[in-house]
Amino acid sequence: MAVTSAPGFFVSFEGGDGVGKSTQSRLLGEWLGVVTGREVVLTREPGGTDFGREIRRLVLHGDHVDPRAEALLYAADRAHHVATVVRPALARGAVVITDRYLDSSVAYQAGGRELAEQEIEQLSLWGTHGLLPDVTILLDLDPVLAEARRTGEPDRLERAGDGFHRRTREAFLRRAAADPGRWVVIDAAGDVNDIQAQIRVDVAARLDLTPVVEEAVRVAEAGGVPEADESPEEDVP
Ligand code: TYD
Repeated sequence: MAVTSAPGFFVSFEGGDGVGKSTQSRLLGEWLGVVTGREVVLTREPGGTDFGREIRRLVLHGDHVDPRAEALLYAADRAHHVATVVRPALARGAVVITDRYLDSSVAYQAGGRELAEQEIEQLSLWGTHGLLPDVTILLDLDPVLAEARRTGEPDRLERAGDGFHRRTREAFLRRAAADPGRWVVIDAAGDVNDIQAQIRVDVAARLDLTPVVEEAVRVAEAGGVPEADESPEEDVP
């Protein structure tokens, strides 16, 4: 099975709880749909499928789960999600944006729960036939600030304690530093629109969209509409 996402493009959002991943992924998806004309699939883990929603309920709202059982549940959710949603969409040429992916397992189950990092990564790579995102956007925020932003009853993972969330953040930052080709690290403490603007610049560069974006900005500033033969789709690989 192909490891590459082509002809699609695969984006993941990562970060601690309450850093704004769902808002930022939705805004990016809406914008990419407009500027590329491509199908955009917004999804998430855990719970991007019916099967996954059962797992989500068990893992986030059930009683105590042994850390290894927890790791297997997230990996099972991911395997089914990739096989039934992500790969078919990538095969159609869609841009797939997922709110969390394999790096969440490495950060939470290895970093947070202190299981072996390589084993956790291998488990998900096995489950997904090695599929990695083209770009991973880490919304980085001090867990103390993130907790202050959260509303509603905390779930099982959100109740895991300060040390757990500090180790999770450190694991994300370590992984990002080790693979700068795939990761973009963004300070999530700022304004929603500023953060989105930074994300768009990075994603546009990686999708070879920069000329399309510059043209759209130029046309918008001139108060016009792009010519038909300048349609963004033609510039997309
Ligand atoms: P999420 O729905 O993203 O929660 P939030 O919107 O609060 O960030 O994720 C649910 C929880 O599951 C979150 O605490 C992180 C955790 N998680 C793992 O521990 N391992 C994983 O592999 C994934 C995907 C999530």
